[in-house]
Amino acid sequence: MVPDVGLVPIRLVKGNLSKVPPHVQQFIAKYVQICRPKGVFICDGSDEEAKEMTEKLVERGTLVKLESMDNCYLCRTDPADVARVESKTFTITREKFSTVPHVAPGVDGQLGRWMSPEDAEKELGSRLPGCMKGRVMYVIPFSMGPVGGPLSKPGIQLTDSNYVVLSMRIMTRVSGELFKVIGEQGEFVQCVHSIGAPRPVERKVINHWPCNPERIIISQFPDERKIVSYGSGYGGNSLLGKKCFALRIASCMARDEGWLAEHMLIMSATSPEGKEHFIAAAFPSACGKTNMAMLTPTLPGWKIKCVGDDIAWMRFDKDGRLRAINPEAGFFGVAPGTNTKTNPMAMATCSKNTIFTNVGMTSEGGVYWEGLEREVDPDVEVSGWLGDRKKIGDFKKSGIKAAHPNSRFCTPASQCPIIHPRWEDPEGFPIDAIIFGGRRPEGVPLVFESFDWNHGVLLGAALKSETTAAAEHKGKEIMHDPMAMRPFMGYNFGDYLRHWIDLNKPGRKMPKIFHVNWFRLDSNGSFLWPGYGDNIRVIDWICKRVDGQDNVAIESPIGYLPTEGSINMDGLNDSYRTPQNWQKLFSLPKDYWVEDVRETRQFLDSQVGIDLPTPIIKQMDLLQERIAQM
Ligand code: PEP
Ligand code: NA
Ligand code: MN
Repeated sequence: MVPDVGLVPIRLVKGNLSKVPPHVQQFIAKYVQICRPKGVFICDGSDEEAKEMTEKLVERGTLVKLESMDNCYLCRTDPADVARVESKTFTITREKFSTVPHVAPGVDGQLGRWMSPEDAEKELGSRLPGCMKGRVMYVIPFSMGPVGGPLSKPGIQLTDSNYVVLSMRIMTRVSGELFKVIGEQGEFVQCVHSIGAPRPVERKVINHWPCNPERIIISQFPDERKIVSYGSGYGGNSLLGKKCFALRIASCMARDEGWLAEHMLIMSATSPEGKEHFIAAAFPSACGKTNMAMLTPTLPGWKIKCVGDDIAWMRFDKDGRLRAINPEAGFFGVAPGTNTKTNPMAMATCSKNTIFTNVGMTSEGGVYWEGLEREVDPDVEVSGWLGDRKKIGDFKKSGIKAAHPNSRFCTPASQCPIIHPRWEDPEGFPIDAIIFGGRRPEGVPLVFESFDWNHGVLLGAALKSETTAAAEHKGKEIMHDPMAMRPFMGYNFGDYLRHWIDLNKPGRKMPKIFHVNWFRLDSNGSFLWPGYGDNIRVIDWICKRVDGQDNVAIESPIGYLPTEGSINMDGLNDSYRTPQNWQKLFSLPKDYWVEDVRETRQFLDSQVGIDLPTPIIKQMDLLQERIAQM
């Protein structure tokens, strides 16, 4: 499939090839030869470039200017291309078991999808040749992390989607400077993306959104530090710096180089006494990472600052502190449910310079999605993401959603009113606490703390959550999502757990590990915890533990629980402050936990098998014993 090419002539429509290092030119030339674009556009990341491209897309109808907002645009996709497609996402390695664990015979592996190099060559060989015919190939030089920083990594994305170019400029640092950095450092991650719709298009184009959903393939080649994504223009499949690079490829780099690439928000919490703590938290998709990263505290005197809402790259420094950077430059947040109550900071962030995808639009040129009922005048008409125009109330009555449940805002992190003033510090921030969490309607307390590092790694490995709209899953079920990395694992999950365990070395100050659950329900199906800004109460408790307060925790079979009354409930409704409510929030029903740990054990045994590290097996033994004695 891949011809051996030298420096073939590249038909430039824009940009300057003289600044592009020869090995990058070679990469471009190779894919020009294969994909056959009508021309090549070298992006420089400038505002003028974005302005020109935006105007063209508005003219063409791909973007609609949101007239009542400041430099904001709406994009509607083909309704068949609205989410990540996990079933078509593969990791390609020579050795199968470097990608996936040894699952038990007859078991369908859920932790990663492997494809052989031969099959990948066949699959890509039947898609890539000529896939950009009649379109321009954009060359996007980008950095994950501050340009040139010690924890940062550069990439080059080739794409035939200008929506992707505009979104990558928000989500990553796009700059011509990177050609110099790559020229000096040599290494870069090769990212190739095509919507898979060469001209003349064969498939009917819907909403000015050409794509090829039937033939989607998202392929990661960790050994070659390469990504090839075909058929989809949707964010998680097409903005290759995000999930494909910063999680899947980077987790392999991290394994090789002794650091961590994780699906985690990064935030700082400063107590009324002025002490700042840094927290990284892993939740599966659409469990509220963005809301937590920007929460508006309801406890007086606390200050939250946001560093990132989705991905953390973390490395121990010479003093043994785990330091984290946010490799991204923007937020690609789920819109529905976001409002001035649940996340006022996100609302402020996306009020300008934002690309919205698959949300509704008001007749005044503003945005609407489910959850904005209080913010948007009920008398205005809204065009839904599928184009139907109705009043908000009529959307509700008809049961049709104005915004797709996975509709998104793509917005610069720098615009967040509580972005940490040093959020771009290339050295990163020292992490005091790591939090795991999921949507757990039953049995799982609001917060508990692991006994030690290895027990904490088990908490991460055992992470489960109710499924959401960020991927193609149907219906509600509790699904395992170990470390919130199930869709994003770059290598064998057993090796990944071993890597986590091995990080605990003498001389290092290991972060404390916690588990939280904002989503426990009472017997009527109502949430037992108000969540959102009130989650500061849990963060307050976590910070006390980080500061070494022994009197706020008691041992339980599953970890340290808060002692009754040690979570500040001041100012909450009386109903939350009763001993009965405390009991409901923190009770550990024995039957539930016996079954939970049995099920987790069965999952890890069958899904990770012989690759499961001994210390994790030992942690499960201990947990099971403690629960048996409840
Ligand atoms: C995405 O689906 O594009 C995405 C960023 O996913 P998530 O919500 O899982 O972060
Ligand atoms: Na469109
Ligand atoms: Mn995510």
